[in-house]
Amino acid sequence: MKATAMAEGIYRLGINLESDQLFEGMWPMTDGISINSYVVQGDKTAIIDLTEDVDDKPLQFERELASIPVQPEDVDYLIINHMEPDHTSWLPAFHRKNPDLQFFITAKGAAVLKAFCGIEKNVHIVKTGDTLDLGKGRELVFYEAPNLHWPETMFSYEKSSGILFSCDAFGSYGSITDVIFDDQLSSEQHGFFMEEALRYYANIIGGFSMFVTKAIELVKDLDIKMVAPSHGIVWRENPKAIIEAYSRFAGYMNGLAEPEITVIWSSMYGNTGQVVNSMVQGVRGEGVPVHIYRVPHDHVGFILASAWKSSGIILGMPTYEYRMFPPMAWTLDMFGRKKVWNKKVLRFGSFGWSGGAQREMDTLTEKLKWEFIDPVEWQGRPDDEVLARASQQAAALARQIKGQ
Ligand SMILES: Cc1cc2nc3c(=O)[nH]c(=O)nc-3n(C[C@H](O)[C@H](O)[C@H](O)COP(=O)(O)O)c2cc1C
Ligand SMILES: [Fe+2]
Ligand SMILES: [Fe+2]
Repeated sequence: MKATAMAEGIYRLGINLESDQLFEGMWPMTDGISINSYVVQGDKTAIIDLTEDVDDKPLQFERELASIPVQPEDVDYLIINHMEPDHTSWLPAFHRKNPDLQFFITAKGAAVLKAFCGIEKNVHIVKTGDTLDLGKGRELVFYEAPNLHWPETMFSYEKSSGILFSCDAFGSYGSITDVIFDDQLSSEQHGFFMEEALRYYANIIGGFSMFVTKAIELVKDLDIKMVAPSHGIVWRENPKAIIEAYSRFAGYMNGLAEPEITVIWSSMYGNTGQVVNSMVQGVRGEGVPVHIYRVPHDHVGFILASAWKSSGIILGMPTYEYRMFPPMAWTLDMFGRKKVWNKKVLRFGSFGWSGGAQREMDTLTEKLKWEFIDPVEWQGRPDDEVLARASQQAAALARQIKGQ
């Protein structure tokens, strides 16, 4: 691919990580993820965020840079919005090609730059409102956006074009191939990137939702003509769409989620599994959309996105060694880490002698601000009465969700 012109003197370039790789070493991706960089050229040349040093990706990156044309030694400034290695692991090699490079980064970022790359020279620390004039009318303004999702993160805004370079904020999974802008996508592709934005959000950003709201507030008076994140497409036709989506995703943490239910179930020998269908029918009978996942079969990255968006969660798990079935305990631990808060929840499950799953679940979910309705728990095989109670309780949860 060649670099793509976005405005006069402003280009997008980038690489894709493939779908067989796990992002951050743990998150599966249905169609990979792009790592976007941007070049802003006036009299001086700046690059905003670099790339990951994996496989032949740096070579691809250099080829794209050359298509502008820019050689590594032509770059005057490197703007580091975020130090995570998906954007910086190639930085030391790039620096060796261009030892005169000047860095612009937040104070917290400078310490991380030193720790990861051993770089201390030519480092300019910037704060919210600081500017960098590149000449020819192009000027960058910096905005500290802490905890999105590292403490050192910032946004860069180019005044003449109105482009907000927002790094991971407003990003999504999904590879970029022939087109980079929202207005070049079919409605199906558009829907895909929105779904991938939600999953990226739930996996990477969700735990920092309060900072999303703050950052949106910080840039709300800017005339934003394009949102150019470090992952996913550039939002040119409707930059508000992704800002509003992120604002909505942040709200999900406060209980303002969609009227949908995510069923997450697990079972060793099928006694809990036999009740899933009654639960699902109970929800569907109320006309509430339902999404079904099984652990450990489905990856928690997908489950998180569904649970994040849903107002209601139904959890099916048997008792295992006096406690919860372990894959479910792991899932709920992740929900705690990622702040899947303020949900309406129903639990069901079988036990063999004295149970224990419920007790552990109550403890594990104490901090999640979940509102429970009475669980459906039984000994051994589920009988007709259990199945009937399951669909009644699922319907009751669905009605609560519709009525909220
Ligand atoms: C390894 C193992 C540990 C178990 N530990 C407990 C337990 O501590 N307390 C209990 O009441 N039942 C325990 N059980 C019994 C299961 O909870 C019971 O068989 C239940 O019906 C399993 O549901 P499932 O068919 O959905 O897997 C255990 C079963 C297994 C296989
Ligand atoms: Fe990141
Ligand atoms: Fe990133």
